[in-house]
Amino acid sequence: MSKQVRHFLEVSQYDTETLTKILDNADAMKKARIGHPRGEVEPDAPLAGKVLAMVFEKPSTRTRVSFDVAMRQMGGQTLVLSSAEMQLGRGETVADTAKILSGFVDGIMIRTFGDDKLQELAAHATVPVINALTDFSHPCQIMADMQTLREVKGDLGGLVVAWSGDANNVANSWIHAAGRFGFELRIAAPEELQPSRQIMDWANSAGAKITVTDKPEDAVTGVDCVVTDTWESMGDEPNHNLHNMLQPYQVDQRLMDMARPDAIFMHCLPAHRGEEVTAQVIDGPQSVVFAEAENRLHAQKAVLGFCMADDE
Ligand code: CP
Ligand code: NVA
Repeated sequence: MSKQVRHFLEVSQYDTETLTKILDNADAMKKARIGHPRGEVEPDAPLAGKVLAMVFEKPSTRTRVSFDVAMRQMGGQTLVLSSAEMQLGRGETVADTAKILSGFVDGIMIRTFGDDKLQELAAHATVPVINALTDFSHPCQIMADMQTLREVKGDLGGLVVAWSGDANNVANSWIHAAGRFGFELRIAAPEELQPSRQIMDWANSAGAKITVTDKPEDAVTGVDCVVTDTWESMGDEPNHNLHNMLQPYQVDQRLMDMARPDAIFMHCLPAHRGEEVTAQVIDGPQSVVFAEAENRLHAQKAVLGFCMADDE
């Protein structure tokens, strides 16, 4: 490999200029696909001859399909691997797995539990490693979210976004994005589920405009965008009080009506109608969730190109 290995582990890893360039490429690749069959390889086949291993320790629909189709459109190939069927699931070390996979493939995408596993994989791999969700973050999702928000609302810098619900892994990546793209992020969550000291320390050091409250009404008033996510993330410890705790943070029409009249609703999906969001909101005119999901493809292509293309 001629260039230094470029992992994509966190949005916070890169500066605003680099991230904006990735979003610009995502927009360009999206535009260039219009009118072309989904299976058609792009004329310049930027990932021709390259193989991506996709390791899943948790289920996935969007991430798995968008990365797979992305690689096909860019001329590359994929291997979808479930850790349960790998020796990784029987105790082979992450470090050894990283070295072995680096001998076969040109990039490794992983969805796993602890952030430490991702870091260990990246430390020992000699090919790019892409974070496809950990308990701590979901940076590829947030690149698609930024692409969507920018498409609908324009310049990210002047926007105000409210998160209502569990300040989970997706919320952490929204915090990273707020730090890098300059929009204001207001997080409403019950005290037990508010952002960790670790992520808030990062936000303060990055000069991110973040406020945290336990009052969803305060967070959403006058915002451009309301975001939420599932009350129970994959791998969460069972918490029997969760539903009672989070019910006041449900995004319903009453909450949406406190935002700007042209505010949009976002959700990384999968969604649980009647829990974190009502059907009226997620299936209503303010919701952009399906455009957001489709942008996973375009944003992932830009991330793959950034990490794996020879001429990037
Ligand atoms: N949003 C998201 O990552 O969806 P999947 O779990 O289906 O990949
Ligand atoms: N917070 C959710 C996101 C799923 C894409 C989870 O980790 O399960």
